[in-house]
Amino acid sequence: MAQSSPAIGAVVPERREAPAPRRPAAAALRSLATLALLLAPLCANAAPPPEDIDKGKEINGVCAACHGDYGQGGKRGEYPRLAGQSPIYLRQQLTAFRKRERINLPMFPYTQERELSEEDIRDIAAYLTSIKLPTKPPEFRDDEDALTRLLAMDKVMIVPRSEGDIARGAAARASIRAWSASTPTTLGSRPMPS
Ligand code: HEC
Repeated sequence: MAQSSPAIGAVVPERREAPAPRRPAAAALRSLATLALLLAPLCANAAPPPEDIDKGKEINGVCAACHGDYGQGGKRGEYPRLAGQSPIYLRQQLTAFRKRERINLPMFPYTQERELSEEDIRDIAAYLTSIKLPTKPPEFRDDEDALTRLLAMDKVMIVPRSEGDIARGAAARASIRAWSASTPTTLGSRPMPS
């Protein structure tokens, strides 16, 4: 009772003023939160621009010669399937090829900075990732010709284009091995035998 008595009124103004400094602090916090909300889109803009999948598709024109039009892979797996791979993995591999941390002579020229910039790597990785290939053969209709079926199957699995001649291949391989065993070279500078 004594505390609320007007007799100690001198104390009251002091107590009334006490919360005052807290208000600006709360207001400052509120405006800080508002500022953060306002800045959020700006911060997002500071991140690298989103990948351009159309550009990735364009770049894939070069890669398709080996990896196939839809990144399905080729040559019985010699050119690996890239469709649907993780974008992080694809980017890492392309960077590793470029730095020659992963040696890949067929691809090395295509991954040079001049040919494939950081931005291109992001775009082509995003494009390849976006390709969803079927895992089962489609139901073919009777009126679909062999080429249509072949192209459809290409998306499911790597289809060898010709049977080849195993005996001739074995002979060619033996002669290449004999030649390379007798020819000292450094990596990458070895000419292919005619
Ligand atoms: C001249 C043929 C050729 C071309 C063109 C080519 N590649 Fe390759 N690529 C290969 C071969 C061969 C390999 C497998 C190398 C190995 O086994 O290490 C490979 C491997 C890769 C891999 C690693 C896949 C894995 O599973 O680890 C990626 C990613 C890749 N290529 C992306 C590309 C992209 C993107 C392009 C176009 C810019 C491209 N390649 C163009 C031949 C080629």
